[in-house]
Amino acid sequence: MLCPYRLEGKGKIVRIYEEIIEVINQRVAQGLLGTGSKLPSIRALSDELSCSKNSVIKAYQEMENRHLIYSVPKSGYYVVEDYSLRQKGHIENEKIDFLSAGPDKHSMPYLDFKHCINQAIDLYKEEMFSYSEIQGLRSLRLELAKHLQDLQVFTVPERIFVVTGSQQALHLFVSLPFPNGKNNICIEQPTHTGFIESLKHQNAVVYGIEVTKTGIDLHDLEQIFKQNSIKFFYITSRFHNPTGYSYSNAEKKKIVELAQQYDVYIVEDDYMGDLDFNLKQDPMFAYDTSGRVIYTKSFSKILLPGLRLGLTVIPDSMKEVFLQAKFAADLHTPVLTQGALEIYFKNGMFHAHIKKMREMYRNKGRLLQTAYRDHLPSSASFSGSLSGFYSTIELPYPLKAKHLIEHLMMESVYVDDVGKMYMPECKKENVIRLSVSQIEDDSISIGVQKIADSIRKLLKQRNMSI
Ligand SMILES: Cc1ncc(COP(=O)(O)O)c(C=O)c1O
Repeated sequence: MLCPYRLEGKGKIVRIYEEIIEVINQRVAQGLLGTGSKLPSIRALSDELSCSKNSVIKAYQEMENRHLIYSVPKSGYYVVEDYSLRQKGHIENEKIDFLSAGPDKHSMPYLDFKHCINQAIDLYKEEMFSYSEIQGLRSLRLELAKHLQDLQVFTVPERIFVVTGSQQALHLFVSLPFPNGKNNICIEQPTHTGFIESLKHQNAVVYGIEVTKTGIDLHDLEQIFKQNSIKFFYITSRFHNPTGYSYSNAEKKKIVELAQQYDVYIVEDDYMGDLDFNLKQDPMFAYDTSGRVIYTKSFSKILLPGLRLGLTVIPDSMKEVFLQAKFAADLHTPVLTQGALEIYFKNGMFHAHIKKMREMYRNKGRLLQTAYRDHLPSSASFSGSLSGFYSTIELPYPLKAKHLIEHLMMESVYVDDVGKMYMPECKKENVIRLSVSQIEDDSISIGVQKIADSIRKLLKQRNMSI
């Protein structure tokens, strides 16, 4: 068996795992392994090359980090598209996509979920012949109640509603009568575009509170609650979209207290809570003693957005009215995907998957924050957190997001304009959002460098100092 290091000519030490990578490189170059081909198992390759299994594991992990291969749980490792180009360095003019907001495509549990769907078809055959429970399969809600405990949300299946994406619940809340009899809605500014659209389409009367990289002004929030007959405050309590801001426990507690004091409901959007490494973080739901916090959660950012699965935890006083609204919207969420999610939880696949996702996104978040610090001019300020997908860059005066975006497109770098995430009266035109979820680790710094260069160039064209 080879030792993990061996001496090459001129005393250079070569690690065995690098040699293993080289063997795979050659096989791809010779066409013996093509896009999507399965790599030899760890045992087979260690036998073939007479090296330890650990060296093969290390080589495969390294290649996965370099995005040359990807792993499919319980199946093995596979060759990615563009392997040869990636292995030589960067694909020329490679698109750097900070725009796409879905989860990392290589890490989605597609095959695992396929098995669960197949099982669900058999298990829930009868249910699919007729209409099912409006609130969602009870057996799934039992699993969800257990899962929610990991997020410090202690509730019962009777209060959980399975919804067709958390967006459905958010949309329904806009027009739903609330027990406080009030009509106006308070939102963070900026906020998730889908909710802005819901408000516009339902002609809601809206009050905005600005979220900066240090959160919201609680005194301003109190004034809004006090003066404007607020039905509910829609708030993303961690990994805010787009700023990435996560509220501290003290802030969350205070907001819940204000809600109680002024009889305002809170719609807490915890769409990415599963990605939080900080186990000491509580949702606002945990601080609520008066049934005023409605909790919503999405499965889109951690599983597959196309499943359209989410949940909401409704206070007893609103269950009936929400049930009617859900019935009117789509009768119920498809049984097949609900059943598959239930099996996915029961098999323990969800926990294993989440662990991996947390690590992956935390690493991407760290790389992004480092790149911001390394490259951005001091006149541009940035927000963001570790673990989540999103962060924003506020451009220095007089730059506008749309001009930078046009410029970056010529460099094949794509970012989003935060303008559409504001109500018209609060709109800012100088903020861009970067989503780091679908971007490869080694492209993050290159992409931010290009953004920084473009900012400098555009400022120079306008004769502004950097
Ligand atoms: C903050 C936030 N909440 C909710 C949603 C909607 O998620 P879902 O796919 O579960 O409807 C999104 C989607 O991007 C989002 O960004």
